[in-house]
Amino acid sequence: MFDSGFGGLTVARALMDLIPSEDLVYIGDTGRYPYGSKPLAEVQTYSHELARSLVDDFDVKAIVVACNTATAAGLDEIRAELPVPIIDVVEPGARALVTATTSGRVGVIGTVGTVSSGAYVHAIARSGAPVHLVSAACPGFVEFVERGQTVGDEVTVLAERLLAPIREANIDALLLGCTHYPFLARTISDVLGPAVTLVSSADETAFAARDRLTELGLLRSGGVGTHRFLSSGDIDLFRELGGRLLGPELAHTERWPLQGA
Ligand code: DGL
Repeated sequence: MFDSGFGGLTVARALMDLIPSEDLVYIGDTGRYPYGSKPLAEVQTYSHELARSLVDDFDVKAIVVACNTATAAGLDEIRAELPVPIIDVVEPGARALVTATTSGRVGVIGTVGTVSSGAYVHAIARSGAPVHLVSAACPGFVEFVERGQTVGDEVTVLAERLLAPIREANIDALLLGCTHYPFLARTISDVLGPAVTLVSSADETAFAARDRLTELGLLRSGGVGTHRFLSSGDIDLFRELGGRLLGPELAHTERWPLQGA
């Protein structure tokens, strides 16, 4: 699996808990993060490199794209080119969101890239659920997570400003449409209040991955999987902050060499 940085660790946690027998290779592209403010074509190039490396260098049997922005940038080319199933976070997240609402008024927050792509508008429309969707981009949230600053006055002030349109929209369920955002759940929940259920796509994506592997006869049935964590940026920071965010499994990190570097 891959993400621009630490965000995909929310999906890694869910996956490791649900299917502990599977070996996992996680690449955090911290050397080139953030993805959310970059042109989608550039993000697509990065995703392509990461996915290709997972197949060629690590011989993976499936890829989880643990990044909404990379999914929003488009995975068609990767899906067509690579010989392994590609599981993304957008469809599972949209499914979880429409299940979580009772009022039919829902929201999604994500990076500028994800929200401007309309990926969730399309996914919700495809689900056929009769819901009213409000979206907001939250530039700056990812940077706080990447600094390990998930609570405090500064992040609360930013959340109050960015989430104002969501608060006014009278929704009862909000999808955290960026894999970094579950690390800010406490702040987001404090700002929106207890009437809004926060939905993370992490669990639903893990279920989708398990179901897909099962369908294809690829699910490993026993044993304990190995977990490898790589980063294209500072691997000591990745180990230190990643270990705090994910847990003890992230005790060792390796370098993923940037192409052309
Ligand atoms: N975690 C990523 C996502 O789900 C992207 C964060 C970023 O690099 O901007 O969209």
